[in-house]
Order: sequence, then C-alpha cells, then structure tokens
Amino acid sequence: MSDAYVHGYDPKENVRLQDQASTLVELLHCDTSYPADSRVLEAGCGVGAQTVTLAKNSPNASILSIDISEASLVEAKRNVDTAGITNVRFQKGDIFQLSFDPETFDHIFVCFVLEHLSRPVEALVILKKLLKTGGTITVIEGDHGSTYFYPDSESAKKAIEAQVELQRRGGGNANIGRELYPLLCRAGFKTVRVSPRMVYVDSSKPELVDGFTKKTFTAMIEGVRESAINTGIIDQTTFDKGIKDLYRATENDGVFCYTFFKAFAEK
Ligand SMILES: C[S@@+](CC[C@H](N)C(=O)[O-])C[C@H]1O[C@@H](n2cnc3c(N)ncnc32)[C@H](O)[C@@H]1O
Repeated sequence: MSDAYVHGYDPKENVRLQDQASTLVELLHCDTSYPADSRVLEAGCGVGAQTVTLAKNSPNASILSIDISEASLVEAKRNVDTAGITNVRFQKGDIFQLSFDPETFDHIFVCFVLEHLSRPVEALVILKKLLKTGGTITVIEGDHGSTYFYPDSESAKKAIEAQVELQRRGGGNANIGRELYPLLCRAGFKTVRVSPRMVYVDSSKPELVDGFTKKTFTAMIEGVRESAINTGIIDQTTFDKGIKDLYRATENDGVFCYTFFKAFAEK
C-alpha cells in the first residue's frame, strides 16, 4: 500500500471525498445494485463516502465494508448511521491479509482504492478468491491523464502532474483508470467490461463547477501543495499559478473535463 500519500486520512480530505461522492452519485453508481440477500464486500470503504449510496441502491443486500484505517471506519460508521442505513457492517482489514473463507461473497465493490496500491493485480487476485464462482467485481477509478480544461494552462498541467508524480513515488498510480481492463484480465477475471464516465463541466452546471471542479478535483491537487513543493517536484510559483488557472476554468466561459472508468467483471 502507498503510505506516503493516501487520500482519506485527514478531516479536510474527508470533506473532499464526501463532496466527490455526492456530486458523482448518478454518474458512477446509477447502474450498481445488488439483489436481496446477496453478500457484498466493499474493499477500502474509507469514510463511507460511497458506502451510503451502495447501501441505498441495494437495501436488501448484506454489505461488509472494510478498510485498513480505523479512523476512517469510525467516520464511515457515523456517516452510515446518520443516513439511517442498517444493512452495512464494518470491519478493519488489509486487502492483502484478509481472513475470509474462499468464495464468501457474491459481489465485490472497489472504488478509488487500486490507485493507492503498488500491487493492484495481487489485490485483485486476492479479492477474486473471496468471490463465489459467477460473482462479480465492480471497480471504479479515475485517471488524471484524462483531465483537460479551457482556458488551457501549462502551469495547471504541471500542478496535476506533480500530484501524479507524488502518488507514483508513494507506490500508487493516479492514471490507473485506463488500466482497469488489463489489470482485471491479468488477475484472471472473465467478461471484463469497462465503461468510461466523463464529467463535463461548464458554467451552465453550477453544481458541478462547485462540487466537482472546485471541491473535488482542484481541492485534491491543492491538497498536495506542501509535499509537491517540499519534495522539489514543482516550484511554488508554477504550482500556485496552476491552481489559479484551474479556478480560472470555473469562471463563466471556463470548461473542465475528467473521465472516470468503471469496470465490471465476473469470476
Ligand atoms: C481514496 S480512499 C477511497 C475510499 C472510498 N472507497 C471512497 O471512494 O470514498 C482509499 C481508501 O483505501 C484504503 N486502503 C488503502 N490500502 C488499503 C488496504 N491495503 N486494505 C484496505 N484498505 C486500504 C485507505 O485507507 C482509504 O480509506
């Protein structure tokens, strides 16, 4: 696991993950729902930002959400309780050291987790063992290389690349979305299907300007300011101009695009 840079551990980052989840619910989750009585494993639930939607879309499924971070699990439980959801249990666990019996789950859901792992195929192989034959895995990841905006800005691209480089140095991959198909195939899954989900934002969609461009994407890049500058990946002037230019893309004539990748596969 990448421990140098992982989303989801500090309060500001938790608010960002919640903003991201509520903005993207329809786009990312509209086609995920599990049948009554099915056993679902959510691997790497974080603060529960996706758990609430998952559980609401599958009210009669039995969901077990695990995470390596105790602090995130406490927050996730609070979020699920606040939403009045009763079909989710939480358990602390590391994907690489899970003690469930083989073929325990009907479905597995993994969202924004593989991007932080230095051994994503190994993680998928482990998860596959826990799936029943004929069970499904759903994986959602972003890909920062899919980002473009108007007005264009070299500084903004460099600030984004700094985040990608920082995540790479921590063992992760912020451009992993494009790799979901090969990763799932390499892990031995069948009938792999990948569905790209583009977020297109202009000022005719003020809720996306605020919820996605500002509070999700730009907030994430801004969040690495200190580490990116301190490690010498980027200079302060370029980084700050890059952030200013990302905000510029949220003005009346600005445009921002980003693509998530959602993959389905069977065991
Ligand atoms: C960016 S957060 C995503 C959380 C949630 N899925 C979401 O979409 O909001 C990544 C989560 O993966 C968890 N994680 C990272 N490595 C893990 C591992 N080896 N086992 C279990 N959880 C892990 C982190 O603790 C963190 O909560």
